[in-house]
Amino acid sequence: MKVLQERIREEGLILSNTVLKVDSFLNHQVDTRLALEIGREFARIFGDRPITKVLTIEASGIQFAMAAGIALDVPFIYAKKKKAVTLAEKVYSAPVYSFTRQENYQVSISQKYLGPEDKVLIVDDFLATGAALVGLVDIVRASGAELAGVGCVIEKSFQEGRGLLEAKGVEVHSLARIASMSPGEVCFVEEAVV
Ligand code: G4P
Ligand code: NA
Ligand code: NA
Repeated sequence: MKVLQERIREEGLILSNTVLKVDSFLNHQVDTRLALEIGREFARIFGDRPITKVLTIEASGIQFAMAAGIALDVPFIYAKKKKAVTLAEKVYSAPVYSFTRQENYQVSISQKYLGPEDKVLIVDDFLATGAALVGLVDIVRASGAELAGVGCVIEKSFQEGRGLLEAKGVEVHSLARIASMSPGEVCFVEEAVV
């Protein structure tokens, strides 16, 4: 997605060879017009399938799940990282290992909102190690719902997330795929292969 690549080049701050900060337009301050465009792009990519729900994980996947839900005219669900008291009903949950915090946490959604009648599109802001997305894939499969695929806004293709998802038979589409980066320079995948 061209406009997204341009924004990453113009505003992205590369903090190290692995961490890209996009706080000014993607996941702290959010450019609402761009978020809605991103939603429409996910709908264009996956919309030939009869998707009934979009699924993400709190916090920074929410704006893109909402945008995709608007474009597809379906509800979105966000998995919670902490078991809320109001989630006393039956939940689907999966353990996720956080590499940044070096500990396991649970992601959960109420069983009320996902079932065998659903066809699900998972979206998130970043595809990095993929641990959280693998957890969401496991939740979708445990619910009996069908998984249409995973859509990510930014993929760091040099990390293992895509490989882990593909090994589980998941179709992955990312709107910007970063082959490599270093302070002041970002190289997208299609440029890397030319
Ligand atoms: P993950 O790939 O399974 O998400 O786990 P990891 O431990 O690798 O990443 C931890 C958090 O950092 C995740 O957010 C992930 O989306 C985010 N992240 C990973 N790489 C980058 C990066 O290069 N830049 C930015 N800005 N974020 C990155 P999270 O735990 O889901 O938290 P939230 O921010 O969505 O609340
Ligand atoms: Na996220
Ligand atoms: Na994040």
